[in-house]
Amino acid sequence: RTTLSALASEPVQTELWDNPTTPIPHTRIGQGADLIVVAPATARLLAAYRMGLTTDLLTNTLIATRAPVLVCPAMHTEMWEHPSVVENMAVLRARGVHVVEPESGRLAGGDVGAGRLADPSTIVDAVERLLGPHDLAGVSVVVSAGGTREPIDAVRVIANRSSGKQGYAVAAEAASRGAAVTLVSTVTLPVPSGVEVVAVETAEQMLRAMTELAADRDVIVMSAAVADFRPEVVADGKLKKREGTPEIVLEPTPDIVAGLGAAKRDDQVLVGFAAETNDLVANATEKLRAKRLDLVVANDVSAPHVGFAHDTNAVTLLRPDAEPVEIDLASKREVARAVIDAIVDIRNQH
Ligand code: CTP
Repeated sequence: RTTLSALASEPVQTELWDNPTTPIPHTRIGQGADLIVVAPATARLLAAYRMGLTTDLLTNTLIATRAPVLVCPAMHTEMWEHPSVVENMAVLRARGVHVVEPESGRLAGGDVGAGRLADPSTIVDAVERLLGPHDLAGVSVVVSAGGTREPIDAVRVIANRSSGKQGYAVAAEAASRGAAVTLVSTVTLPVPSGVEVVAVETAEQMLRAMTELAADRDVIVMSAAVADFRPEVVADGKLKKREGTPEIVLEPTPDIVAGLGAAKRDDQVLVGFAAETNDLVANATEKLRAKRLDLVVANDVSAPHVGFAHDTNAVTLLRPDAEPVEIDLASKREVARAVIDAIVDIRNQH
């Protein structure tokens, strides 16, 4: 209790009676909350909450609040799938209770299955979504993330160093601000709460997915590192050593974002990235013009802690007819926030 109080910089409260901070904790805590998060939410807690059964400080607080409530269930698979729990969850959802679904994974006692408490980062995403500004409410967004992989033969690919983290951060930030978000992704990272993922691997698959999805989206963010070249011929099966060193002839891939720029409607916002190692602003400004973008997020991928695979980034935001805006080294989520701020600003000026 002392440890948790110290970590939270708030007193931990467990007592319904003899509470040191207020004589009526069962109403005061719920009244003062902006959001209540129950993590983990057990089968018993969900049943009590559904029935309005107030037996302790937590259930009292839940019944005495008008704040939004987020429950994060965690229990064994058999319990999670039991009709009573399924019904309690349906009733709570129908009442507007927010839910972060449990994940599949290791459970107590070494069992494996659905019911494991969601990853803390997923819960934090959901909290930010509920508390943050909703300046993208009603707006649809598609974001591409990760590097494409272009097959050489049945087992080998041409890949690049992109981790997809910046694209996932943009998707998470857009969702937390109320947008309906689809991620077209080549990588497997924790999926931000409320985001739909379409898995792709090659530039060709990404082209098809992005072209189809972009047609009816308000905002398109192309943060994927698309291979510029792919093998002209993909060998059947595995190339064998005994057949000698292969000569791999490359051909250019389609420029996805340039195609989206050519098809762009006036009410759409199209955002591209620019990975540069020199003449950052000049090269990125040229991409802004040539690809008909509304915003370019340019990063110097040769600088320390910037770009590929890092958790941090430093970027310059470029727009037509506006001064460049520099975002100094920050987490990819903070960079995503600046990108979304710029998108909101562009939409306001349309
Ligand atoms: N891009 C794309 N399709 C490609 C290549 C790039 O849609 N085949 C997009 C990227 O997702 C990014 C933007 O174009 O939003 C700029 O990518 P970048 O790699 O910086 O530039 P390129 O256009 O590939 O030019 P260069 O490699 O010569 O710098």
